[in-house]
Amino acid sequence: LMMTTVATLGLAAAAQAQTVGFSQIGSESGWRAAETTLTKQQAEERGIDLKFSDAQQKQENQIAAMRNFIAQGVDAILIAPVVATGWDSILAEAKEAEIPVVLLDRKVDSSDDMYLTAVGSDLVHEGEVAGKWLVDTVGDKDCRVVELQGTTGSSPAIDRKTGFEKGIAGHDNIEIVRSQTGDFTRSVGKEVMESFLQAENGGENICALYAHNDDMAVGAIQAIKEAGLLPGKDILVVSIDGVPDIFKAMSEGEANATVELTPNMAGPAFDALAAYWKDGTMPPKFIQTDSALYTMQDDPAGQYEARKDLGY
Ligand code: AHR
Repeated sequence: LMMTTVATLGLAAAAQAQTVGFSQIGSESGWRAAETTLTKQQAEERGIDLKFSDAQQKQENQIAAMRNFIAQGVDAILIAPVVATGWDSILAEAKEAEIPVVLLDRKVDSSDDMYLTAVGSDLVHEGEVAGKWLVDTVGDKDCRVVELQGTTGSSPAIDRKTGFEKGIAGHDNIEIVRSQTGDFTRSVGKEVMESFLQAENGGENICALYAHNDDMAVGAIQAIKEAGLLPGKDILVVSIDGVPDIFKAMSEGEANATVELTPNMAGPAFDALAAYWKDGTMPPKFIQTDSALYTMQDDPAGQYEARKDLGY
């Protein structure tokens, strides 16, 4: 009898295996690579058949991938939307096909009844935490800040800028003197930092760098060193993500602070989907992940060790 029960349960479980399409942005950063790895791991642990599509930073590729998932009749779609605008029609197509869509880590400006839920951090808050850290660190000292923005038109670039400005508001001694996109990559982050350094008296006039992600900060740290200055001392460095390499830089005194963004967005997304598939339970429209600040005082060497094998 027991054998029969187990066999029956096995069949039932197999019959329930769900297929999920995942339209990922690309692999612009260490954080992004970790999110991809963790999404695949989370799917495997739950017996979900994950169809993965890499959009190579292009919205048109993401829309094509979604259309393809809809045609295949997947049970749900996960999407990390590269930019915030332009999603209305494809979201309407998914809705029409009754396929739930879950947004991961970035937001869209479509109405929230066009998707099931969004898993992500409070992106404005992250920028604000970074700004407040700078306020607390420099006190009354004059501080000229250069800013490396994320991908133009992406919700983290828009919100992290707004948040940082909010964090430093009312502190006239702190001023953003240059701000440009580094596209969330190390290489562009380094290039743009080189031009900032050149334009600011070889970097002598820069007090701090605020980068919308750690990868751009890591590229910029290299540029600062090549300009003969000490990152972390001559130029303070604050960024967002909490990837292993920034903790390494912090442990070496070359970066000062980071605001962590969890790369495990898929875990909460799959939990919400499991409840929805089971009995139609509607999740909240926003499932918020934590944003913790880490400084040089928070055992960066230990933080690096704890994260380095996570596929970053
Ligand atoms: O959307 C999240 C952002 O995208 C991460 O902070 C950044 O590293 C990535 O490219």
